[in-house]
Amino acid sequence: MGDSGPSAPLVSRPFGVIMSGMLEKLKDFLQPGSPEEKLAAELDPDRMPRHVAVIMDGNGRWARERNLPRIEGHRAGSRTVREVVEACARLGIEVLTLFAFSRENWKRPKKEVATLWRLLEQFLKKENQTLLENNIRLTTIGSLEEIPPGARRELRRVMGLTSAKTGLRVVLALNYGGRMEIVEAARRWALQGSVRPADLDEESFARHLDTAGLPDPDLLIRTSGESRVSNFLLWQIAYSEIWITRVFWPEFRKLHLLEALVEFQKRERRFGALGPSRERT
Ligand code: FPP
Repeated sequence: MGDSGPSAPLVSRPFGVIMSGMLEKLKDFLQPGSPEEKLAAELDPDRMPRHVAVIMDGNGRWARERNLPRIEGHRAGSRTVREVVEACARLGIEVLTLFAFSRENWKRPKKEVATLWRLLEQFLKKENQTLLENNIRLTTIGSLEEIPPGARRELRRVMGLTSAKTGLRVVLALNYGGRMEIVEAARRWALQGSVRPADLDEESFARHLDTAGLPDPDLLIRTSGESRVSNFLLWQIAYSEIWITRVFWPEFRKLHLLEALVEFQKRERRFGALGPSRERT
């Protein structure tokens, strides 16, 4: 995991310690003179995305290329999760949403499904102290009811433990599907009673989504080269910048995250308007 091995704490200094500038925060995380450090130096701390969402893809293909069982791809993928969480915490990103298990993933072989939940349970058991020490709050979107009791228990415990933390918010999308989230939000809206269709607007509807209260993702990253959104955050990614890398999730590193952030800062976000560069013409 990262440069510091699988069992090192996520962030070696307490998160929230007042330091001058982003590079200072990244100092003991990035090798001096490394490509990562050069990329970090290009970043404008005032234009960081508030919310980064990730479709973690390619665990299976990563394993196949190495003649390993798919499960090993997921195991390696969960180590990447740790590195990316650490990097986002250090970069001062507010929200990191990870697509960890879709509603469609239940269609996979039983053994693979069981392994994914076990890996999540192990991750939470192993990392809960580090999340706490680094001021990271863990929450979920999706439906937790159907997930195996061990993983559900562990999730509830870690969510409770970290509920007052004010640093990076890690949102795990579990048993999640964007269309179902929208359908359920519509149900919740309608169930309020005494509401009329004319009362419904985007803002009041969004308050019924699982992501209520969170900013929409500014940046959506997808690994393994696929150009699909796969039923992920359909409402919320309306104006997200999408960055796709061919790198499989198990080999995604802070270097790739930094590449995505540098590219994000080069994009002109217009939200349907013209934007400064076109207004002049
Ligand atoms: C996609 O790869 C990945 C998943 C379906 C699951 C993501 C899970 C993890 C990264 C591990 C556990 C998570 C946490 C939060 C600790 P794929 O299997 O679809 O890859 P493929 O398309 O190459 O087959």
